Amino acid sequence: MNFSRFALERWQSTYENSVEYNLSESGVHPLTLGELCIDQEDLARCRLGYGVSNGTERFRSLVASLYKGATERNVLATIGAAEANLISILRLLQPGDEVVIILPNYMQTYGLIEALGGRIVPIWLRAENEWLPDPEEIASRVGPQTKFITFSNPNNPTGSVFGHSTIKALTAVADRHGCWILADEVYRGAERIGEETPSFWNEYPKTIVTSSLSKAYGTPGLRLGWVLAAQETIQEVWSYADYTKIAPPALSDLVGCRLLEQRARILDRTRRLLNQNWPNLKSWLDSRPGMFEYVPPKAAAICMTQYHAPINSSSLAERLRTERSTLIVPGDHFLLDGYIRFGFGNEAPYLLAALDRVGEMLDSIR
Ligand SMILES: Cc1ncc(COP(=O)(O)O)c(C=O)c1O
Repeated sequence: MNFSRFALERWQSTYENSVEYNLSESGVHPLTLGELCIDQEDLARCRLGYGVSNGTERFRSLVASLYKGATERNVLATIGAAEANLISILRLLQPGDEVVIILPNYMQTYGLIEALGGRIVPIWLRAENEWLPDPEEIASRVGPQTKFITFSNPNNPTGSVFGHSTIKALTAVADRHGCWILADEVYRGAERIGEETPSFWNEYPKTIVTSSLSKAYGTPGLRLGWVLAAQETIQEVWSYADYTKIAPPALSDLVGCRLLEQRARILDRTRRLLNQNWPNLKSWLDSRPGMFEYVPPKAAAICMTQYHAPINSSSLAERLRTERSTLIVPGDHFLLDGYIRFGFGNEAPYLLAALDRVGEMLDSIR
């Protein structure tokens, strides 16, 4: 089994904690434990044994309450959306299976499918179509040989959101051919504008939804996520989780419950950060005519930006890191050279100072 290097994750995890300015993060600036208003006695009482292998009933019920008609039996707690995606793919994929994957995408599912012997059929979202899928193209690429269709919604790296009509179109195609849908909804709840992104949950029985507390909630360090699916599917996915982690960390489960109990307040903070910062990033991009093209993101703290400068995206990112101690994500990590992904989930002064450094760098290249 050959795993290709997960370029985005290695880039971020190696450098994000050592640069002066990190614009590579796709979620909002992480919360501290102190900001979560957790009763100290609650923490002190937390017994650090093996946790409950599928997550505590309280945690699973809180997650289920986010999805119409779901119960705790539809939820399996995982180590972030990363493990949720892994064990879902282990359940769905056999070597040689064909998988339709909507790109650009966080490349975890792509790398896993490739390593596990799947055959990838890519469908590319395009900026001129606001990074939304074309239903006709999907209908033409999905067929009886398709094992599952996978994507992230909201989308990383573009921040686009598939609405009800796209959901209907995708589930209708899946239904026609009897294939599965694996919907990574880790950015749901991090909408800058409009309503919460509709979930694929409850739209079509052969659907697995994955998500976590990392992005919209600003707590990636908890490493807590979930798989949401029909009860029978949850039982099947659970049997892989016995091998991959035994149980979610007891402390994360406790903190995750307290976080979900304060969900409205936490998501208000997320929206405040997104709305406070997007105008700053937008006016900075717009103040450099001819340099950038972008589609305003609807969700997530990210903007996939095409740049017009004679430099490859990885070289640009590397120079920014080494010469200006500022981290961005090169489009190369999404197989889209000529783009960079800006993260704007931090506080405004930080973002503005970081953008100054990007501006200096680009001015020196042009
Ligand atoms: C689309 C997508 N899925 C999953 C993940 C992994 O998230 P987690 O921290 O919950 O494991 C990420 C992280 O960037 C992501 O962008």
